[in-house]
Amino acid sequence: MSETKKYDFIVFGATGFTGKLVVEYLVERYLGNPEIKWALAGRNLEKLKSVAKSKNVPDDICLFTADSNDKTSVENLVSKTRCILTVVGPYQLYGNNIIESCAKSGTDYVDLCGEPGWMHEKINELSDISKESGSRIVFSCGFDSIPFDLGVLFLQNEIIKRFNKPAPNVRGRVRAMNGEFSGGTAASLGATMSALKEKT
Ligand SMILES: NC(=O)c1ccc[n+]([C@@H]2O[C@H](COP(=O)([O-])OP(=O)(O)OC[C@H]3O[C@@H](n4cnc5c(N)ncnc54)[C@H](OP(=O)(O)O)[C@@H]3O)[C@@H](O)[C@H]2O)c1
Repeated sequence: MSETKKYDFIVFGATGFTGKLVVEYLVERYLGNPEIKWALAGRNLEKLKSVAKSKNVPDDICLFTADSNDKTSVENLVSKTRCILTVVGPYQLYGNNIIESCAKSGTDYVDLCGEPGWMHEKINELSDISKESGSRIVFSCGFDSIPFDLGVLFLQNEIIKRFNKPAPNVRGRVRAMNGEFSGGTAASLGATMSALKEKT
């Protein structure tokens, strides 16, 4: 790890609905693990401090501020870490600077984006740049993506076992669901519908 890349990962958007769930998970799983260095980031330090306190994050976990609309603050945040885990969304509204900065600087990037149009745009725009820099960009690591990703993996493993080759296509559908959309998910759906309307 280079001298300036002090952290293994930083969670950006730790004050949001999903961000707080990620913080809870980190506290449960990673506190006291000397091999993994992580930190939290958000746009509002007071809010970040209050989340950290309410989730029992110890004082030696650093808190950083960055605004996704402020390129310099985003680049500064990215420069500190080997990987950014961002839960600042809708990504098509707030995600451009952070993903670009990661792609250009060779920093790994993980999100839980559910906005296919934006991801398609970013894959076209940043694939060559990230291959050159060594940045690994991983979209859609959240709840509603994982069942589909793992479903395809399990299914293809079984199909390869039985037929010696993978299926050319796999279709998935959700028949029933419990729970509600989070605020950010509803906003992402709204932003995607507006972007689609503009294109038609
Ligand atoms: N794939 C999945 O399964 C899945 C599941 C849940 C959510 N999501 C996606 O995850 C994203 C977040 O959802 P959520 O419900 O957690 O949203 P949320 O509660 O609205 O949280 C959004 C976060 O982004 C921060 N933020 C907003 N504007 C910012 C800016 N200009 N600079 C820096 N930070 C900024 C907010 O900071 P403040 O607290 O200061 O406002 C907050 O921390 C959405 O895109 C949603 O679609 C995906």
